Order: sequence, then structure tokens, then C-alpha cells
Amino acid sequence: MALAEDRRSVVARDIFFPMRDLLHVPRERYYDRGFYELEKEYLWPRVWQMACRLEEIPQPGDFVEYEICDQSILVVRQPDRSIKAFHNACRHRATQLCSGSGRLRGGQIVCPFHGWRWNLDGSNSFVYGAEGFAPEVLRPEDIRLQECRVDTWGACVWINMDPDARPLREALAPVAGLLDGVCVENMRVWWWKETILNANWKVAQEAFHEGYHVMGTHPQLTFGLGDEYPFANVEYTAFENGHGRFQGRFDPTAGGISQGRGGEAFLERSRILWEGQDAMTLERDLNIFRGMRNRVAPGEDFPTVAIRALLDYAEGAGIPLHPTPEGLRLWGGGVFLFPNFLMLPQFGNALSYRARPYNDDPEWCRFEVWSLTMYPEGEEPGRAKLKGRFACDDTENWGLIPRQDFSNIASQQRGLRSRGYREHRLATEMEQLISNMHSELDRYLAG
Ligand code: FES
Ligand SMILES: [Fe+2]
Repeated sequence: MALAEDRRSVVARDIFFPMRDLLHVPRERYYDRGFYELEKEYLWPRVWQMACRLEEIPQPGDFVEYEICDQSILVVRQPDRSIKAFHNACRHRATQLCSGSGRLRGGQIVCPFHGWRWNLDGSNSFVYGAEGFAPEVLRPEDIRLQECRVDTWGACVWINMDPDARPLREALAPVAGLLDGVCVENMRVWWWKETILNANWKVAQEAFHEGYHVMGTHPQLTFGLGDEYPFANVEYTAFENGHGRFQGRFDPTAGGISQGRGGEAFLERSRILWEGQDAMTLERDLNIFRGMRNRVAPGEDFPTVAIRALLDYAEGAGIPLHPTPEGLRLWGGGVFLFPNFLMLPQFGNALSYRARPYNDDPEWCRFEVWSLTMYPEGEEPGRAKLKGRFACDDTENWGLIPRQDFSNIASQQRGLRSRGYREHRLATEMEQLISNMHSELDRYLAG
């Protein structure tokens, strides 16, 4: 009996590759098929996930298919503008009802196989040749589309396949509140692209969980900062529910952002960010900042003056940018929402990332990037569309900064397979978002 129990615990340990502490991550968590299958069974069906942006489904009848591993969920805008989500499987013989995104013509969801139909609210509206079925097969409650939990926050639709899951807002606490401080609800898509990476979804997103890689990967971004970035000036916080945050240890409205250096370094870093990724800092911001050259009184801090000019401009232009003091501190930092969503806000813009397994393969992922911004009220663009899927080294479609990040990801995955490699060794503070994420993942996998 004792032996049998021993065996079970050995098997369980072999399958789980658990986090033994917060400083190490076993390599198998990034490629082991058994571990991946546990994520499929115990993480993805139970966790709130960003399914689409609200701008993808502006009109009643608009839909988006959200795919995660072997599951497909339809997100549908209702006639009253609310949103419902359904498991994407016909109640007759399982055929997927819709794929991709688009508009459901005539307010009907139609199965392509035998033509059964549903209203946008999931109630069945038509069964072809219904007289050929026994009545107990066609009970209306049995042939409704199966609903999935859905809610909205941050201008996004979130789904959860677990009917007993906590409410979204509770699950996203406290990070949702932090992002409310940068008016994330008012952001809209500037561009949206994706790439397929030869790496586990966690490898890809962990590339954005710390600023520690900036010196090695993006040395151009440290221009004018000396040795101070990213060590002393970045603060990392691991929150409950697996979420995390990093941000600068300064208040951008109270001076100090440039650490006493002149405005030229700030302008140069802003230019590099705009040219290098067209996100977080956009051309509009750069032009406003450049306009403040030579308009800084003695003793004033250039970035403080520049940011004040940006806020004034936004107010004059009707751009709904009114960050809280806490929100301002988040500019230039990042917020990670467990399990796979990240936002890096700055200047009323943000970079946003989502990583998902691809092709049911633990060593591939689909990685999406949104550059978000705020438009003057009434001038928001129409439906948001994916610009395309581009190779991670495509110099036409990815700026220098994302290409630098992507270049590490596949080679890290290959290194994980090395017979000379056992586990990650993490920095206590600077890499705590990674271990915090894995610890929360273990809580899900343990059920
Ligand atoms: S499988 Fe959908 S109508 Fe038959
Ligand atoms: Fe990076």
C-alpha cells in the first residue's frame, strides 16, 4: 500500500514538474506534452481569457471565433449590444458553426451541414425536417447553443468556460484597477498583427515580463540612461491571482523621470520607440514633445514639461486621456494579467500582447501584438481588423524592437531542450512576475 502510494506520488511529480520555489522553473514546463495536456485540461477551461477587442464586433450580429487549444468559442454581439459567447459546435452533429470573424447575416447562426439555425441569443430557430426527429431529441433547452461565461473589461471581451468561475473583475483584481488609471477603456486599435513563434506560449510572454533584458536585447533604448536602467529604477510587484506589474520608481509629473539629464535624451528615446515599434510612443507624441524644445524654464524637468504639454493637447483635442496619478506612474511600465495577456501603457497609448498555444503543439505559439492609442471622441476608427500574420523576422512589418524580442524566443526554446540544461534560475525581484505566474499555474493544475 505504501509502495503504491509512493509510486503515485512519483508519477504525479513526473507529470507536474512543479515549481519547488520562486527562483527556479523546471524546463519541462515549456515542452513536456503531459504538462501541456494538464494546461489544456485544468488551466484553459477554467480561466478568464481575453477573447477579442470590443472593436472587432461593433454591430449586432458581428462575431469573432476565439480558439484556445482544441476549443473554439463564438463571441456574438447581440441586438441590444450586449455580448454572448457560445461553444462553437452544432447541437445536431457537432459541426463548427462559424470560423474567423464576420457578420451573421439575417441575425441567424446557420450550421453549414444540415442547416439548423439559431438566433443571436443562442435559441434554436429552425430544424430542417424536424418531423423526422423524436420530440425528446429536439427539446428547445437541449438544442440551444451551449453558452460560455462572458464579460467585458478594458475594451475587451473576456470568456471563461467554467460556469463556476469567479466574476471577471474579481479574477483580474487588482491589476484591472491599475489599468483603469491609464484609461485603458478609452484605447482603440492603432494596429494589430500576429506572428507564429517556435516556442511555448509561456516562453514568448515571459520575454515581456521584465526590463532586465533591455540592456542586452535593446541596448538602443538605454540611450542617455547610463547604468541606472533597468536595475535601480524599476519596481516589480507580484500580485495574487498570478498577475504582476513593473513600473518606474518615479512620478512623471513631479520630475525625476530623466534623472536630471537634458531633454535631448528623452526626445531621442521617444524617437527610437516610435521608429522601432510604432507603439507606446507614437508620432503625435513625439511632435508634441519636440514642440517643447527650448520651452523649459530653468530648473524644470523636460519630460515633466513634455508630459504636461501632451495632457494639455489631449484635452484640447477631445482625447479622453485623464490618467490618475497612480496611472501616470504606470507609463513606461507593464501589467501582466494571468494567464496570457500583457499591457504596456505609455502616453495614452499601450502595447498589448496575447500568447496562445498554436497547432496543439507545446513548442509553438501564436503571438499577437496590438498597438493601442486614443482618438478624439467621435473620431474612433471602425471595426478593428488583424493586419496579418507576419514572420517574426519580417523587417517590413515588425519594427526593430519586436524583432529584437522575437529573436530570443525560439533560441530560448531550443536551449530548453539542451541536455545540459535543467531549469531557469531567476532574479529574486526582477523576474518575480515569471515565478508568480508559474505558481498560479500550479494552483490551477493542482485543481
Ligand atoms: S451538424 Fe449541424 S445541422 Fe447537422
Ligand atoms: Fe523587449
